[in-house]
Amino acid sequence: SKIVLAYSGGLDTSAIIPWLKENYGNCEVVAFVANIGQDQADLEGIEQKALDTGASECHVVDLREEFIKDYVYPVLKSGALYEGTYLLGTSMARPLIAKAQVELALKVGADAVCHGATGKGNDQVRFETTYTALAPHLKVVAPWREWDLRSREALLDYLKERNIKTTASLEKIYSRDENAWHISTEGGVLESPWNAPNKDCWAWTVAPEDAPDEAELVTLKVVKGEVVGVNGQELSPFKCLDALNALGVKHGVGRIDIVENRLVGIKSRGCYETPGGTIMMAALRGVEQLVLDRDSFKWREQLGQEMSYVVYDGRWFAPLRESIQAAADSLAQDVNGEVVVKLYKGTATAIQKKSPNSMYSEEFATFGEDEVYDHSHAGGFIRLFSLSSRIRALNAAKK
Ligand code: ARG
Ligand code: SIN
Repeated sequence: SKIVLAYSGGLDTSAIIPWLKENYGNCEVVAFVANIGQDQADLEGIEQKALDTGASECHVVDLREEFIKDYVYPVLKSGALYEGTYLLGTSMARPLIAKAQVELALKVGADAVCHGATGKGNDQVRFETTYTALAPHLKVVAPWREWDLRSREALLDYLKERNIKTTASLEKIYSRDENAWHISTEGGVLESPWNAPNKDCWAWTVAPEDAPDEAELVTLKVVKGEVVGVNGQELSPFKCLDALNALGVKHGVGRIDIVENRLVGIKSRGCYETPGGTIMMAALRGVEQLVLDRDSFKWREQLGQEMSYVVYDGRWFAPLRESIQAAADSLAQDVNGEVVVKLYKGTATAIQKKSPNSMYSEEFATFGEDEVYDHSHAGGFIRLFSLSSRIRALNAAKK
């Protein structure tokens, strides 16, 4: 048999290769590597590494543009923020990785797919829900739910006994997941919510207190709810993000430190860094403020909340996600404009905004004199708006 493994080159997925061959009838293991914008140094020599570990083939697929264009942008447009803060960096990446893995499995005629997520987390659900939605006939192997290797030490010993070289060390304090959008850090000191994060809990961004004393302004161009340009230059989605990440990292933008509810019922604590994404979010919200009327804005908020659960839970390939996305796309048709975002010691603030579709009317809004608004009209409006209160109060007075 043939198994396609989502392989990262790290310790866990390295141990999975020999383990699969021993426990699944000397099967062939095909390594699949998603380039989703993680540290590109991790990809150097990864094919050879997979082969040295016992894989029969290794395929690296560049998913960076697709990730930002088809996964991140639609979610961002909906305004999704899981439990109010998390920009869903890991959650959005899993269905794309799993989809590309399934495509490879079908191409090489594999009968199973395998991932290295633990039995305690969200990622197993996201991988396997995608496998099922796209290729329900493929068998799924989740070694963490089967083997009795319970520690890093055990994994290192397992490889050593089989004379497989690894560059992994015993000391790996954190569980990290990195892609173009974000890096997450969980475990280690963070396991106690009473421990403040150390300096090394943050992987990308400078500490806000160490960021430049001078603020920096960046201009984003927004078309139909998507960022299409930075500082006057039109760029692809991934390139926009790349440019904004560099600025955000420098100014300590996009850090959150939260305790979240995993789908499986466990609470977990994590530090997340989403520098470029946080700047994009500020810009989109800035344009929306000018363009969306009150009811549309409220609806967009509801869509964002629904979308956050759908994406967090790994239901990407589902009619519900498509339907929410269609609604968000529809609302975003007029979300065009330009926003200047000020970056300063950990903050990203939209300080200038304009849109050809702006509903903002200085004539109506002014606190000075105007020619368009008759104040006396408000009296009738309030009389009707408060009519039920009036009736209730009059009834109470009669009793
Ligand atoms: N808790 C976050 C999420 O569920 C991040 C998970 C990070 N995954 C990992 N394998 N380290 O989206
Ligand atoms: C894991 O890697 O399995 C833990 C993180 C998660 O999936 O939530």
